[in-house]
Amino acid sequence: MHFYLTTAIDYVNSRPHLGTAYEKITADVIARYKRLSGIETHFLMGNDEHSQNVYKRALERKMDPRAYCDQMEQEFRAVWKQLDISFDDFIRTTEPRHKAAVQKLAQRCFDKGDIYEGQYEGWYCVSCEAFKQEKDLVDGKCLLHPTLTPEWIREKNYFFRLSKYREPLLEHFKANPGFLRPENRRNEMLRLLESGLEDISVSRAGQLWGIPLPFAPDNVVYVWFDALINYAAAVGYGSDEARFAEWWPADLHIVGKDITRFHTVVWPAMLMSAGLALPAQVFGHGWVNFGGQRMSKSLGTSLDPSDVAARLGPDPLRLYLVKEISYGGDGDFTWDRYEERYNVDLANNLGNLVSRLSAMAEKFRASRLSPAGSGGRLAQVAEAALSRYRASMDALALHEGVAAAFQIVDAANEFIAETAPWSLAKKGEAGRLDEVLFEVAEAVRVAAVLLRPVMPASSAEILQRVGETTAPDALRLDRDGRWRSEGVRQIAKGAALWPRVEEATETGRAGSAERTRREEITVEDKPAAAPAEPARITIDEFMKVELRVAKVLEAEAVPKSKKLLKLKVDTGADQRTIVAGIAEAYQPEQLVGRTIVIVANLQPAKLMGVESNGMVLAASPEGGLPMLVAVDPSMPPGARVR
Ligand code: MSP
Repeated sequence: MHFYLTTAIDYVNSRPHLGTAYEKITADVIARYKRLSGIETHFLMGNDEHSQNVYKRALERKMDPRAYCDQMEQEFRAVWKQLDISFDDFIRTTEPRHKAAVQKLAQRCFDKGDIYEGQYEGWYCVSCEAFKQEKDLVDGKCLLHPTLTPEWIREKNYFFRLSKYREPLLEHFKANPGFLRPENRRNEMLRLLESGLEDISVSRAGQLWGIPLPFAPDNVVYVWFDALINYAAAVGYGSDEARFAEWWPADLHIVGKDITRFHTVVWPAMLMSAGLALPAQVFGHGWVNFGGQRMSKSLGTSLDPSDVAARLGPDPLRLYLVKEISYGGDGDFTWDRYEERYNVDLANNLGNLVSRLSAMAEKFRASRLSPAGSGGRLAQVAEAALSRYRASMDALALHEGVAAAFQIVDAANEFIAETAPWSLAKKGEAGRLDEVLFEVAEAVRVAAVLLRPVMPASSAEILQRVGETTAPDALRLDRDGRWRSEGVRQIAKGAALWPRVEEATETGRAGSAERTRREEITVEDKPAAAPAEPARITIDEFMKVELRVAKVLEAEAVPKSKKLLKLKVDTGADQRTIVAGIAEAYQPEQLVGRTIVIVANLQPAKLMGVESNGMVLAASPEGGLPMLVAVDPSMPPGARVR
């Protein structure tokens, strides 16, 4: 069994942006999932070079178009490498294998009588590289490119008899309900087919940049007719027929919603005309917007995926795009939302789980965990998650697949809180402690196997830390995604996988048009660089800090802040307001009546416009949520802590 998967090939007049990268990331998740499922997979990507925009951009840069495309290929490849995209082949439309395929297919259609000479007169949007009808324009502008004026062209063209294929296409859609997914796009295409099809131009006259039509070499093939053929060219059409017979038809074309018509009407008609089989499925994903706006270089709403990946790493970006956007629908990226999800899913949830497991394994069992019992509640959670994961991934509901993996992570964190391994250790319940630790380690292992397609490098790191010995590329869902109640696990410790975003460097967010101020609690008051050896202080110095018991009287959120709570506390001597950075760990109502410890003699400071008189003491584990320092509730407010 094998699986041939493709993405749209990108125009190279500019670098990839987060939207084009989204498509490649989601396709990569599918390719990796197929491989994890033991299916031989061929994953194709590439560049679309015969566009007028590409030609113009090369001339603007005073470069030979071919040399310009060579340079852009390197830029694209570097971004895909940084994002860990595991394509098996990368095709360029200027390659000889592609030219051979285009000429062969065009000739076939011509011989069949499906290409004829005619005259085109009408609008052309250079940015879409598409002929537009009056009804496609609003106020004379293309909907997707409202800042540009379409060109009126009048030229001798060769036309493809698309209209002839309306009935066969309708039949194909009806006989194959899964041909175009998701359902809303299928309905849209069915309506279009039902309303009738016109023949389309497949050549451009008087242009130098493109592939000559074999039967009329003064004309170059229209860029879309040219580009679509890449999927067949890459697996040998016109150059290696044995290979083509092995891999064609494609199993899945992943494309954006703006180009589903080309892929589900024009391309299948071309294939029917040439007597070739149709791809099994086309999936039209939605848009990734930036701060609610369409990603566009000219509007300043474009994000470079390299900048985003450089900030917190490629895996957090991959996770965000796959988990937060329901696949098929539109989604949005904002820095705030991205950092928030990073902190919740990675720093506090998965990262914290991995750190706690290795810390407990080291402390209680010298990092060696032996199997005990046959797996309790977490084993059931993991089994159920695996079947949900499979069903979702097979249906291309990628967001639900990742959510299923995270159900194991959530359940493992809850399990630790409930079983409290540290008190089992204290009470000497060695057998139960063995069971609990092994169960948590196994849950982490299964979650990491399921997360492999989305976060390849992080998954490999976690698997190594929980003692999985299978090489990441050799993992198989059937065998390794199931619960294992045997095998001693050597747990390895390591640095925090995802430090909370406050701790990450400020170097990122480069290239962002939306540089919102981050809520830092005391950025301005950063101490001078710490000395290499921590300096010791005298008791007198320590006693200068007035630590006192206080009681929380009122608590409320600070408007527009994710981290800050405003507390009114009784210090024994007065009632005052203290602003504390604990909102992610506590609900305001949980705090009222609580006995806490404060620094009582701190100079007042304004935080998000609220004056704070003092500071609340809390322990902040690396990568985890702050936890208030507790004293016995019988201690009266004002008691000195020393
Ligand atoms: N060259 C054509 C495709 C030819 S395929 C035979 C093309 N290129 S593109 O560079 O403009 O777009 C590449 C892919 O990125 C397309 O599938 C397009 O829909 C997708 N996206 C472009 N902007 C996007 C977003 N903002 N969000 C998600 N996908 C986006 O079209």
